[in-house]
Amino acid sequence: MALADVQKVSILGRESIHCGFHLIPYIVATVLETLPSSTYVLVTDTNISGLHLPEFQTAFDERKLARDARFLTYVVPPGETSKSRQGKAEIEDFLLLNSCTRDTVILALGGGVIGDLVGFVAATFMRGVRFVQIPTTLLAMVDSSVGGKTAIDTPHGKNLIGAFWQPEYIFIDAAFLETLPAREFSNGMAEVIKTAAIWNETEFGALESRSAEIFAAIQTPSSNASGRTLTTRSPAQQLLLSVIVGSISVKAHIVTVDERETGLRNLVNFGHTIGHAIEAVLTPHVLHGECVSVGMVLEAEVARQLGVLGQVAVGRLTRCLRAYNLPVSLADPRIASLPAAKGLSVTKLLDIMKIDKKNSGPQKKIVILSRIGATYEQKATVVADSVISKTLSEAVRVVPGIPSKSPIRMATPGSKSISNRALLLAALGKGTCRLKNLLHSDDTQVMMNALIELKGASFSWEDEGETLVVQGGEGSLSVPPNGKEIYLGNAGTAARFLATVCTLVQLSAPGERTVITGNARMKQRPIGPLVDALRANGSDIEYRESPGCLPLSVAPAGLKGGHIQLAASVSSQYVSSILLCAPYAAEPVVLELTGGQVISQPYIDMTIAMMRTFGIDVVREVDPATGKQLDVYRIPKGTYINPEEYSIESDASSATYPLAIAAITGTTCTIVNIGSASLQGDARFAKEVLEPMGCTVVQTETETTVTGPPVGQLKALGLVDMEPMTDAFLTASVLAAVACAPPLEGRELADGSRPTTSRIIGIANQRVKECNRIQAMMDQLAKFGVETKELDDGLEVYGKPISELKEGASVHCYDDHRVAMAFSVLATVVKGTVLEEKRCVEKTWPNWWDDLSNKIGIEVEGVELSTSASVASASRPADQDSAASVVIIGMRGSGKTFIGQLASSALDWSFIDADEYFEKKYQLGVRDFVQKNGWPAFRAAEADVLVELLNSYPSGHVISLGGGIVETPAARDLLKEYAKKGPVVHIMREIDEVVKYLEAESSRPAYGEPIIDVFQRREPWFADCCNYVFVNYTGVSNGSAQPDEERATIGKTFSLIAPPATSIRDEVVRFFNHVTGQQPNLAPNGAADRRSYFLSLTYPDITRALPHIEQLTAGVDAVELRVDLLRSPKDFDKLGPYVPSVAYVTDQVAALRSKTDLPIVFTVRTVSQGGQFPDDAEKEAFTLFHTAIRLGVEYVDVEITWSEKSIQDLVVRKGHSQIVASWHDWSGNMAWDGKVVEAKYRIAHAFGDIVKLVGKANELDDSLALYRFVQRMRASSDAKPIIAINMGTEGQLSRILNSTFSPVSHPLLPSKAAPGQLSFAQIQTALNLIGQLPARRFFLFGNPIKHSMSPTLHNTGFEILGLPHKYELLETETIGEIKATLASSDFGGASVTIPFKLDVLPLLDALSPEAEAIGAVNTIIPQRKADGSCILYGDNTDWLGISRSIRTAMPTSMKHPEAALVIGAGGTSRAAIYALHKLGVQRIYLFNRTRRSAEVLANAFPDVEVEILETLGTWPAGGPAPTIIVSTVPASATTTDPSVKNALYLPISMFESATGGVVVDMAYKPAETPLLALAENQGDQWKTVKGVQVLLEQGYEQFQLWTGRRCPKATVAERVWSAYS
Ligand SMILES: NC(=O)c1ccc[n+]([C@@H]2O[C@H](COP(=O)([O-])OP(=O)(O)OC[C@H]3O[C@@H](n4cnc5c(N)ncnc54)[C@H](O)[C@@H]3O)[C@@H](O)[C@H]2O)c1
Repeated sequence: MALADVQKVSILGRESIHCGFHLIPYIVATVLETLPSSTYVLVTDTNISGLHLPEFQTAFDERKLARDARFLTYVVPPGETSKSRQGKAEIEDFLLLNSCTRDTVILALGGGVIGDLVGFVAATFMRGVRFVQIPTTLLAMVDSSVGGKTAIDTPHGKNLIGAFWQPEYIFIDAAFLETLPAREFSNGMAEVIKTAAIWNETEFGALESRSAEIFAAIQTPSSNASGRTLTTRSPAQQLLLSVIVGSISVKAHIVTVDERETGLRNLVNFGHTIGHAIEAVLTPHVLHGECVSVGMVLEAEVARQLGVLGQVAVGRLTRCLRAYNLPVSLADPRIASLPAAKGLSVTKLLDIMKIDKKNSGPQKKIVILSRIGATYEQKATVVADSVISKTLSEAVRVVPGIPSKSPIRMATPGSKSISNRALLLAALGKGTCRLKNLLHSDDTQVMMNALIELKGASFSWEDEGETLVVQGGEGSLSVPPNGKEIYLGNAGTAARFLATVCTLVQLSAPGERTVITGNARMKQRPIGPLVDALRANGSDIEYRESPGCLPLSVAPAGLKGGHIQLAASVSSQYVSSILLCAPYAAEPVVLELTGGQVISQPYIDMTIAMMRTFGIDVVREVDPATGKQLDVYRIPKGTYINPEEYSIESDASSATYPLAIAAITGTTCTIVNIGSASLQGDARFAKEVLEPMGCTVVQTETETTVTGPPVGQLKALGLVDMEPMTDAFLTASVLAAVACAPPLEGRELADGSRPTTSRIIGIANQRVKECNRIQAMMDQLAKFGVETKELDDGLEVYGKPISELKEGASVHCYDDHRVAMAFSVLATVVKGTVLEEKRCVEKTWPNWWDDLSNKIGIEVEGVELSTSASVASASRPADQDSAASVVIIGMRGSGKTFIGQLASSALDWSFIDADEYFEKKYQLGVRDFVQKNGWPAFRAAEADVLVELLNSYPSGHVISLGGGIVETPAARDLLKEYAKKGPVVHIMREIDEVVKYLEAESSRPAYGEPIIDVFQRREPWFADCCNYVFVNYTGVSNGSAQPDEERATIGKTFSLIAPPATSIRDEVVRFFNHVTGQQPNLAPNGAADRRSYFLSLTYPDITRALPHIEQLTAGVDAVELRVDLLRSPKDFDKLGPYVPSVAYVTDQVAALRSKTDLPIVFTVRTVSQGGQFPDDAEKEAFTLFHTAIRLGVEYVDVEITWSEKSIQDLVVRKGHSQIVASWHDWSGNMAWDGKVVEAKYRIAHAFGDIVKLVGKANELDDSLALYRFVQRMRASSDAKPIIAINMGTEGQLSRILNSTFSPVSHPLLPSKAAPGQLSFAQIQTALNLIGQLPARRFFLFGNPIKHSMSPTLHNTGFEILGLPHKYELLETETIGEIKATLASSDFGGASVTIPFKLDVLPLLDALSPEAEAIGAVNTIIPQRKADGSCILYGDNTDWLGISRSIRTAMPTSMKHPEAALVIGAGGTSRAAIYALHKLGVQRIYLFNRTRRSAEVLANAFPDVEVEILETLGTWPAGGPAPTIIVSTVPASATTTDPSVKNALYLPISMFESATGGVVVDMAYKPAETPLLALAENQGDQWKTVKGVQVLLEQGYEQFQLWTGRRCPKATVAERVWSAYS
């Protein structure tokens, strides 16, 4: 029995290429038998040795026994670096050491690297020994192993030294491909596709249509050596082998004809001229085959530009490469994201091509395809630089002039809708049909593949791919064999049409079903109504995954027919799908459309008209009574009869461009294929727009000819309603720009508008196309100096003479094909116009630029945009207006009103509840309105209210909208539009919480469906409409939320010493101030002359850190969330690159927010930059970045290695957040005095607000070099804050010296984020030791102060932060001693207490506004200037201590306390009154035993309503009882016993308020004062605050004022409390 079934291919006259599966035993046997030797040496690399070497060893051991031969193995490291002189020498030394002689046979087992290297060793060892190629990569199998070229690389270039040396055998064992990484497989496929493209169209067709099977063949491991023999070989394996053998055969043939590469062999260089140039820039990040893939597309475009190759072929090639996961353009994120890609300039690429060894002299040679499977010449063709550069450049300049091809006759690309229908009709029809002008898109490609798999028709190409020949199958269809699923990608039309087609399939074997599936996006797109209709008609269709979407499994039972009902309000494609298949049903079909409004009737009419052409007459029923057409269609049984030829109508929107060129240049253009009989609305453009502008228009049923008036004589349009042809309005607008002759009689605008006005209306939908096209036209026309005005549903364009238009405009195209093509029309008359993104035309007219020059005769030049120019001209949305009103959306019950109100008070803006506004406007509650008028009327009215609100309150308001506002597309559009200028905030809350809340609520009408369904429907809409997200993490909107309870406990018992988590209120304050820009939450120490730090959180789940967050963040200015290290609980153990989900990251951010209001630095560190995020997940990374911006995250760390486009996009949307642009070099080779680092700085500087550069120190000097670098960058005029550090222990000095956002660790953290990281305290100590942080002395001035808690408070803070300062008591009687202290050089600051709060005032140079208002100082801060001078600044933190304590204890529900009571009239009472006033208390009652002092105090606050009480506990008539009570009198002076004399009696009537409230006693001796004791007896609703709490709060503030650092509150409080008790 044969060891294996192999297929042999002949090369150079010998059948030395043997192909099969699992060949190792066969290889060993063949080699031993036919190449006798004393020594066999197998060379491989370490990747392969582990996988396959043992099997070789075993096979040799088993067979060599008979003979006395040695089997030696040598393993080299994998990768290109082995292919060097050194690598070669090492193998040679190995051979010599092992005494190998001339009879040695060397086996090269591996990819191209091994093959090339080992082949070259064999070629020169002992003047040449025999060798055998055993390629293990696809590239090596089909390319490098075949042909005998061997080589090594030198620093001067690749493959520069080598030899032709033919192997004895080439064993192609396709089973090796099963272990090959997928990317390497695709890499090889590029060569396979290349070979088919130049040589064999049939082969190409197979590659094109069978990519999924080919992938499956390598992805399904074959067990038990299956495939070794023909009987065990699967069809997939068979296919794979035939593809490989096919490709090898071509190469073998070419090599045989032209071994030494003199002519024909050149052809295999297709794609390589440009591909190699790209590779030279991008290697090693992009593989050879990937570069060649892009090269092939670009070289095919060169051929197209030369007029040699049709667009169909370019399209087929592009789609085929893409099907194998290969990049097809330089814009591919895998390429564009690489830092090296910045070097891909056109000039650079042309320079590299100049020295390509395939060229002769400076002339560039490219293999020009003439069609798929053939080349223009039997060798490479010389191509002019200008042609190549035009293809390579991303922008074009149109050279104005008169079209040289006028009068022009041309067809524009086929209409997509008609193409799809024609294809299906012809496939179902009888006979052969030649389809002309088919639009070759993904949809048609997918449809053809599916019909082939269903054996429904066969297809072939004629006229070099311009004509598709369809051999109709007359409706006979069968289930694809072996359960094969039909894959439809994301082709929507194909999916809808094919769903019904699948029901036509006839039963073959029992149990078989047809399955259609698609990509992830397709699996979300709806198909439910169609399936419902078919099921109701008796078809057996199952959803394989989610209901309502693909994949579908359809039983082959034929379509029953008869009466079919279909809901047709969602998509007309469902209707067309049934109509097209209906003739093949068992009974004649009566199709009745239900569900009210039928959408897109013109498309249904189009289908019916086309069915008629194919011989089936559909009858639409008419109501006999009214004569009105009904939505009922009768379709007879029958078979389509294929017309011999069917010419697909051109796309009418595309036709507007050449016609408009005729109009603007005064020439003639005929578009064949579009005439008055056209079903497309845009076909009216000639008659309804161009004719009134003064053109001569001749339109037959099938043709349109336009002749323009002499240049400059176009007439303005007056009013034109373009509702039936909205897509054509862009073309009309550019013509209107130069239309300055008065309008035709009768079209003038009667309202006094300028005579050159063209008022285009009926196009509101164009705001939501690829871009906001109305805005786009206005912005871009402005660049030409053309004035426009926006209208509700259109725009006005004011025409100008051509000579007055600005030349040299650079038009930004918004990636919108129609913008690009429309402006190229204008460019034919305005000099120097550049269209910035030429590739965006690919969507509908990929060869537009070529047709413009080749068919119309207008020259087009390639333009290379400098990066800065393209950035500058990219249209950014106008900077957000910082006072733009905030719009709040979200599910009902998510807390919109509650949070909106808090936000409005935080911002000091007015709050508007849209529901209340609605009720006022309609004099009817929302619920009643719905009951009375129904939901649709309500939604319409609600949208009206939205418009009104946005227009009437554009700034300074917080507007909360109803939850259902997103239900209508119109309202969603409004919101999206608004989000471009102001914040639209989505309040997100867990659905369970929402449900809980809604169960209790009744003012809005019931949903009539489960809340969860509503939630799921609306969530994506909310996400789509908002630009910010506020996560209502813990709050519940009725004020009884958990944080309040938590806080209450603190206030009540002090059992919890740690300060409370940030309340929802704090988070609202932070979030809304940040996103509106009123007070962005940026780190104050980020300023140039300060030092700032962030703590890296390196947890998979940061909630673990939250209990300690206060300790961890002591001293720092921000926390870094290392997003790349996050792992959701189910993935905790996952190591290696990982992409955390958006939901998880959102949750983590929200969790962090609930515990700290420090700014967050959001970092997604990639693997190559030292993190854990995959390097190739750019899309995912940016989704996370955008999420961060939406969440109001303050800093986003963006690596500069990501693609410029994505970064720019983010920059545009960053709002008030900042970008940290970062670069890390882990190699230790980046010299801080070198050019590289400066270049990185420049790139980062271009888009970052902060630059971050990280290197690695090998010695101390590296940190000194870094320091000098930073100094140098800082000295430049455009300096930005820079984070520059060196990793590693040797780099610690750089961490100490770095001043902006030094990353720090904390002893409590599980691991350091980076080697060499120091803690905040360590850095402070170090700074002190090197003289950068001098120790200072702080004091308390007062008398008596012996028992003061302040030293404990501040010294604890200093100690924890590692600050070298000291806080002391200065108990003195006189101000003199204080004066002396203030003057000492090491004075750091002071607290001031009784009796000096007023006395110190004259000693100070300036006062804070608060100290001024209160009239007392408790804090002195020396402010040192850069010039060494110092001023003494007085502040008052008492009031902050009071107001913070009250706020913390106050229930959230108590937003505006009506009345408060202050007891006592001393210095502290001043602070109390000020604090209460700031809290928004409306009436303040003041009680003091001596009324006179009270009066003095009251008079000191003329703006505050202070009412003096006669008796404590009775309020002025009608006055409410207070909900806040602050006592400032010594505890010893109060009593609750009425019999005690000489003490202030505290009556119980003070606690009359039913809602309860907060009581603060400023006295802190004893801890439990009579007032607090009394309050605690009044029930739970009264919360109490002890004096020490206030002392702490005001002390924290002092600490921050002195040190610029937040006080580490938790530990400080703990020490103070324990010292106190
Ligand atoms: N001589 C020629 O005519 C010719 C033609 C084209 C390319 N080349 C040369 O070929 C080289 C590129 O070859 P390549 O693309 O095969 O790269 P390669 O040899 O570097 O292999 C790619 C990677 O895949 C690994 N690998 C190989 N086979 C594997 C398998 N079966 N399972 C798992 N891993 C496997 C390798 O260890 C390596 O890491 C270049 O040096 C290029 O110059 C030569």
